[in-house]
Amino acid sequence: MDILNIYNPIKMHFGRGVINEAGNIAKKYADSVLIVTGKSSMQKSGTLDKLLKILKNAGIDSTVFDKITPNPTTDDIDAGADIAREKGVGLIIGLGGGSPLDSAKAIAVTAKGNIPVWNYLKTAAIEALPVITIVSTSGTGSEVNKYSVMTNPKTGEKPGFGYECMYPKEAIIDPEIMVSMPPHVTAATGFDIFVHTLEAFTGKMKNIFSSAYCMQAFCLLEDNFVRAYREPQDLDARSDMALASALAGLAIDMSGVGIMHALEHPMSGNYPNIAHGAGLAGLAIESMKYNLKACRRDFMLIAHHLGIKRMKRSEDEYAYSLIEKTEEMLASINLNIRLKDLGVEKDKLPKIAKEAFTTMGFAVQNNPVTVNEQDALMLLEASY
Ligand SMILES: [Fe+2]
Repeated sequence: MDILNIYNPIKMHFGRGVINEAGNIAKKYADSVLIVTGKSSMQKSGTLDKLLKILKNAGIDSTVFDKITPNPTTDDIDAGADIAREKGVGLIIGLGGGSPLDSAKAIAVTAKGNIPVWNYLKTAAIEALPVITIVSTSGTGSEVNKYSVMTNPKTGEKPGFGYECMYPKEAIIDPEIMVSMPPHVTAATGFDIFVHTLEAFTGKMKNIFSSAYCMQAFCLLEDNFVRAYREPQDLDARSDMALASALAGLAIDMSGVGIMHALEHPMSGNYPNIAHGAGLAGLAIESMKYNLKACRRDFMLIAHHLGIKRMKRSEDEYAYSLIEKTEEMLASINLNIRLKDLGVEKDKLPKIAKEAFTTMGFAVQNNPVTVNEQDALMLLEASY
């Protein structure tokens, strides 16, 4: 057996109404917290007010930093870290979807050091303020892993980074918060779960633990993804999608992502209005065709877990049925799109292909089939 190191130190709390435990959980770490969230959805749904009340009842002082945008920028993260330092908070709570959660982890690191967050791409972080994640979408997986993605607003570069000190201490995963997610967000974030499971299950760093998480996540996706999209108030579907998101988040923490994420990050870095999951939707089919030759067995296994019957199909046909199933899934959630539909300009494709290697090289390396810059450009053009 090859040497295998498995580590994830996050205490996870799942279930309806579990947000009510936030006061007791936060109290273990500090009496004053910085809540990092976006500009509107947690305010509109009443979740931010609810959290403030819960923390106040536990005797905790809260400061709210609600400047986080989709595809959060290094400027926002540095500003949040300044506030954390000025206020002397002892805990960061990330509240919302992937962007506030990623930002909370990045702010926790930056608040402890004296350098801008961008420098942590080259300088390893060894300490961070403790972080609690309270997730409002199911997709990112950020609630249960160490990674953070940030966009440099000057260059459009969008790298991910993660150090051991960035693992959240605890994650609060309450499906009642998720019913406020509109269908287009359910679609994009749910497809992100699918790609996490697909890339962790097929990547070069796959292992037996991440594969086990992925197989269960595929079953949950098959039963609940389209249901949660069509019936946003269905709490059972929301609960199972929240579990799928966490499983996929744990899987990528161990086994990483691949070419779809490597290409998507520079795309939404250059076009910040593109939702990450929608960008992945535009890239998925061509990327799966590209990887098919190295993933025949894995694709057949995934097809099985997604409930596709083998019938009399050959191995090649059965493996390909996963690509057809993905096209169907995208059609049912209204995300059967091409890069030009997302507003990407054709002459930007070479820059995106290049940045996949300069900012997401670890994901390119992990892809089951070797990719060079020309292959990456060809994939982008085929997806256009
Ligand atoms: Fe993702």
